[in-house]
Amino acid sequence: VLHQTTSLNATIKKVCIKHPGKRRSAPADLFTTDAAEILNDEEINVVVELIDDAKAAFYIVSTALGNGKAVVSANKKMIAENLGTLLALQQQQRVPFLYEAAACASIPVIRNLEEYYDNDLLQSVAGIVNGSTNFILSKIFREQLSFEAALKQAQDLGFAESNPALDIEGTDAANKLVLLLLHAYGISSSTKDFLYNGITSIQLNDAVVAREKQYKIKLVANAVKLANGKIAAFVLPQFVEEQNQLFNVENEYNGVVIESGFADKQFFYGKGAGSFPTASAVLSDISSLRYNYSYEFKKKFHQRPPELTTDFYLNVYVSAAGAGQLKQEAFASIEESYTGPRHSYITGVIHYEKLLRSNWWKEKGVSLVLLPQPVVEDPGQKQLQHVSLLAEETV
Ligand SMILES: NC(=O)c1ccc[n+]([C@@H]2O[C@H](COP(=O)([O-])OP(=O)(O)OC[C@H]3O[C@@H](n4cnc5c(N)ncnc54)[C@H](OP(=O)(O)O)[C@@H]3O)[C@@H](O)[C@H]2O)c1
Repeated sequence: VLHQTTSLNATIKKVCIKHPGKRRSAPADLFTTDAAEILNDEEINVVVELIDDAKAAFYIVSTALGNGKAVVSANKKMIAENLGTLLALQQQQRVPFLYEAAACASIPVIRNLEEYYDNDLLQSVAGIVNGSTNFILSKIFREQLSFEAALKQAQDLGFAESNPALDIEGTDAANKLVLLLLHAYGISSSTKDFLYNGITSIQLNDAVVAREKQYKIKLVANAVKLANGKIAAFVLPQFVEEQNQLFNVENEYNGVVIESGFADKQFFYGKGAGSFPTASAVLSDISSLRYNYSYEFKKKFHQRPPELTTDFYLNVYVSAAGAGQLKQEAFASIEESYTGPRHSYITGVIHYEKLLRSNWWKEKGVSLVLLPQPVVEDPGQKQLQHVSLLAEETV
């Protein structure tokens, strides 16, 4: 991709890889297995880190920044896990550290959040940010493929992480939410600070319910500014209605809906995985270095960032094979309760903190999917009915 972009006056001096025996499509003398050859070479002024080992990547990136080299990375896991240290190092060294490809691959969401959207005006960010889970959900719901077959296809096509658990258990999307929170609101967080789950617990019965209600199930990363100015953040499977722009985001595509005070909703759509879409974002970062572009982390360092909060409610659908697994007592209020011979579910409102501090909804056989308007600030306003202890009854 770099060589096809002749306007960019950049050459690759060395490529560090792990397995020297692998067949490569470039001359052998370009490759090394010793990262020090790059990190200690004074002629090299940009290090592009695109490896799948977060620990080694952190060493490479922190050493490169420490040696005064600009760094471009796509490694959301490494960045999310070491955010504080990397920010401090970047501030100290004053060298660019760019990672557009780390969230939504080809969609320029980080730079837009950083440069365009003013903190005060940004109401919410909601995105399908993981290409492989979206690909799997599309294949299951549209082509009735099994979960395993869909995951295998995602891996074969290069969309899945080397460790697919990162995708399907929601960790990759949570790592990306860490980056979005930083650039949308200036919040330095870790995945331990908010609720997240993946798509492994979604059952065929949930897909049937989704279809009946004319919804699709998507894994959505959400950051929502509440009336008190605090931010609600979570990554969970969600029922998405047809009028939501995320409804038609299928396969490896990603989509992000940004809502701001005056502009209302804006929608970013593009390929969220795959070698060329990812390379296009990496190239854009490299290209911006020609103009000394660097994230200023404005909302973190020049404004007072809002806090994350756990004090709000989520509007949820929880299903299980047996009504006994549904923990009615966890609900602040219940809207619908269904008990069938093979499948039961409840829809209603649960306090976010109750979910954060419990695991019953992550147990085998239980699935939790957010309803289309997931955040409820004041459950009183919804005029929901009180918990019925009769599981069979539709309340
Ligand atoms: N693929 C995507 O769609 C996508 C999208 C956005 C972001 N990313 C991110 O991009 C990064 C790479 O993903 P990928 O899909 O390109 O992975 P990949 O195809 O598995 O490639 C990983 C590369 O890293 C090299 N490597 C691994 N450990 C190394 C080490 N310790 N020292 C030097 N080289 C090492 C491997 O070398 P060998 O060739 O010798 O094995 C391989 O070339 C990850 O952080 C991923 O999250 C990927």
